[in-house]
Amino acid sequence: MGWKTLDDMDLAGKRVLVRVDINVPVEGGKVTDATRIERIVPTLNDILAQGGKPLLLAHFGRPKGKVVPEMSLRVVLPALRTALGRKVTFVETLEALERGTEEQTEADVLLLENVRFHPGEEKNDPDFAKRLAALGDIYCNDAFSAAHRAHASTEGLAHLLPSCAGRLMQAELEALEAALGQPKRPVVAVVGGAKVSTKLDLLGNLVEKVDHLVIGGGMANTFLAARGVHVGKSLCEHDMTETAAQIRLKALDLGCTIVLPADVVVAKEFKANAPHEVVAVTDCPDDAMILDAGPEAVTRIEQIFAEAATLVWNGPLGAFELEPFDAATNAAARKAAELTRAGKLVSVAGGGDTVAALNTSGAAEEFTYISTAGGAFLEWMEGKTLPGVAALGG
Ligand code: 3PG
Repeated sequence: MGWKTLDDMDLAGKRVLVRVDINVPVEGGKVTDATRIERIVPTLNDILAQGGKPLLLAHFGRPKGKVVPEMSLRVVLPALRTALGRKVTFVETLEALERGTEEQTEADVLLLENVRFHPGEEKNDPDFAKRLAALGDIYCNDAFSAAHRAHASTEGLAHLLPSCAGRLMQAELEALEAALGQPKRPVVAVVGGAKVSTKLDLLGNLVEKVDHLVIGGGMANTFLAARGVHVGKSLCEHDMTETAAQIRLKALDLGCTIVLPADVVVAKEFKANAPHEVVAVTDCPDDAMILDAGPEAVTRIEQIFAEAATLVWNGPLGAFELEPFDAATNAAARKAAELTRAGKLVSVAGGGDTVAALNTSGAAEEFTYISTAGGAFLEWMEGKTLPGVAALGG
């Protein structure tokens, strides 16, 4: 790990440009999940405690280089103030920040309006990056979840100012290193989700790194179909069965076991509490669809977890958004939590729906680490270099 942390920087009296990811869900003008905001607090407190002056740079949504009032970061201010327990001064424009005011000089923490309102941000335009760099003495990147973007505030700035990782970035990178970098073996990965086609690179990389790959959700159906199993009306990418078969062969070659369910929960309708039954995986009726892994499959997954030292999890095992088809995900998550609590398993999860799925089971807080990242977590699982991390020297 070649990157510096806040401990390596002299922050006293310095203006610190802190790239954060506070791209949080909002409904009716209110933040509905403040996790990403809460997770940046240690970084800001550390900077303030060392006498630094944080200026937060962040995006909200995808305004594509234009001012889109509905994508103003103003909406996160109340949640940010609550999480920090301090006044946060909002600065509407880059020009206003460049002009400076007494209020800005005296503020504890400044938050600049959505950096993506500027076309130079996503283009990683060197002139735009220089404009930002002129506003600070030090650059601190605390936005692991935006580190897969090579933008001015996530990548360009690191080349222009003395740079370091914030506490959240540090925690994310350390957890990910423990999960797939130099993990304790055996390593098990759980990958769920609807489509094999969206996770090809990820599966290809994982079979090289893990001992067991548990496949769940709609993706499992494609792997089952590749083995000639009849999956009825289930979500299945029939045109991807050849690819699934190749992944399986690669796994066999590398000594990675691909784990598919031996029994499944089937229903005729895709809706909560639809009448359902458990059948052997080879017995899915023509007019039914697989919506979850069955109890025997869960027992096998639990056994694999019990023998593993490291677990990395992305994606639910079934249609977790519909009760009771969240049962396998919940049971497996609870087992992972129990083993983690007992000090027997290092468990790391992240990406898209995963955190929501694990939160439903109530198990998420017992995991060793839950990433705040969606796309960045997936790209990391694919084995890709994340530009925001690479620019820090990682
Ligand atoms: C996210 O929500 O995953 C990050 O904030 C990145 O957002 P983006 O996909 O719009 O770059």
